[in-house]
Amino acid sequence: MAIGCDIGTSNLLVAKKAGPDVEVKRLRNAFVEINDEQKQHLASSSLSAVEIKGKSYIVGDEAVAMARILSRPLRRPMASGILNPTEVDARAVVGALVKALVGEPQQPDELCAFSVPAVALDLPGGNTVWHTGFFTQLLEQLGYQAEPVNEALAIIYSDCAAEDHCGIAISHGAGQVNVAASYKLLGNLQFSIARSGDWIDRNTSAALGVSVADVLKVKEDPHFDLMDAEETFDELGLALTFHYRAMIKYEIGHLLEQWRSMKGQLNFPEPVPIVLSGGTAAIKGFLELWCQQFDSMKKKMPVPFKIKEIRMAQDPFGAVARGLLHYALAKA
Ligand SMILES: Nc1ncnc2c1ncn2[C@@H]1O[C@H](COP(=O)(O)OP(=O)(O)OP(=O)(O)O)[C@@H](O)[C@H]1O
Ligand SMILES: [Mg+2]
Repeated sequence: MAIGCDIGTSNLLVAKKAGPDVEVKRLRNAFVEINDEQKQHLASSSLSAVEIKGKSYIVGDEAVAMARILSRPLRRPMASGILNPTEVDARAVVGALVKALVGEPQQPDELCAFSVPAVALDLPGGNTVWHTGFFTQLLEQLGYQAEPVNEALAIIYSDCAAEDHCGIAISHGAGQVNVAASYKLLGNLQFSIARSGDWIDRNTSAALGVSVADVLKVKEDPHFDLMDAEETFDELGLALTFHYRAMIKYEIGHLLEQWRSMKGQLNFPEPVPIVLSGGTAAIKGFLELWCQQFDSMKKKMPVPFKIKEIRMAQDPFGAVARGLLHYALAKA
């Protein structure tokens, strides 16, 4: 028995075996504070109310709806892929959410592989020691044997197993883009950048002087398509496309630069797939825009690896959790 737990800035996911299948469950990693009166109205009906140091909060998916109804800011225990240092009380919130999601171990010391991001190249002084230690301790207190695994490497396990674990995997989350290159799990390159969904939301909002909530309404509209955004969504659609394009260009630039800085240590003999995943990549037109951007950058700078294909992960939202489960089951 073993499980995989993807601890993300916006979403927490767990993957478990359910007979021959894999079951993936998700919870929003968010909370909103409520006052005593609201608490009295809600307490009996809500399973998601928690009390921390005398303050009451609604946590998880219900927090998103509640923040909208109460016009209160939706708060998050994490920012840019790691625990948010300005949200101290939120440690207990994320603890309660992880506990609710993973449940009790099925056997003593069941292995739980959980995702950690790489240290972000563009967050000077950042490190993941506190973040990794916090979640290791939390899962151990719940009775698991906890093992941190790089977020993008997990996608190599979920989506490149049939290719002998060869590939370049890129997770596009809310707080970070995480990249891992693997040749048969050897010669690993892992890095992250703190520019992903949140960066797109913040900067599109600032550029047009509209709220982040208005940006999200368009971005998460099922009809929104990056290849045809201006047509249906005017200026906001166009501004979103510009920011997606800028993010992709930034990420590919870093990938090429990091590879070159390995100075021949990464020299894959065969063409490898590039696998895109994460909530930010799940949007319509993302793969096309990514390929377009890659082709245009390829004309200006040499690409130091051979590409078999560029594709989406089979389950863009659940790839990390599924890969962590693969990893944990292989080790257990
Ligand atoms: N339907 C949708 N359409 C467009 N974007 C979406 C949709 N659903 C979620 N997103 C975006 O995906 C991002 C969240 O993705 P994901 O759940 O992979 O992140 P995370 O794993 O929590 O974050 P990180 O890996 O950076 O810590 C958010 O920026 C969110 O706005
Ligand atoms: Mg993630």
